[in-house]
Amino acid sequence: MPLPDLIQAAAEVRQRAYAPYSKFLVGAAMVLAGSDDIFVGCNVENASFGLTICAERMAVGAAVARYDLRQYPPQQMVVMAHPLAAPCGACRQFLSEFSLELEVVCVDALEHQRRQIYKISDLLPNNFRL
Ligand code: THU
Repeated sequence: MPLPDLIQAAAEVRQRAYAPYSKFLVGAAMVLAGSDDIFVGCNVENASFGLTICAERMAVGAAVARYDLRQYPPQQMVVMAHPLAAPCGACRQFLSEFSLELEVVCVDALEHQRRQIYKISDLLPNNFRL
């Protein structure tokens, strides 16, 4: 999957974000190893703030609804925000469930060339496992 396609998908879904409280729009787009499908997510806030869903976790949920991620592990995810933002701690744990190799490409929504690339295992060393 070409990275520009993932960046485009993240930019589009970011426009769908529901963030009336923080006004901080986040879009996520993910591909799995062995599949050409793109799974997207955006943040969805709630008047009861703690219920807010992050973009990254929505994208993982969308993928789980279609594929067994133990067979099709997440390979690459674009996280788009402005300013540039890396996944929160909860999302790091959530993302590390299915692959420690996942590449997270954080992209600035206003300047797509401004990027930071991480491996999930570097963002969350020693993730919790049962
Ligand atoms: N947010 C995400 O969607 N992903 C993250 O990794 C960090 C934060 C959202 C949650 C909330 O709607 C807004 O950004 C501000 O925290």
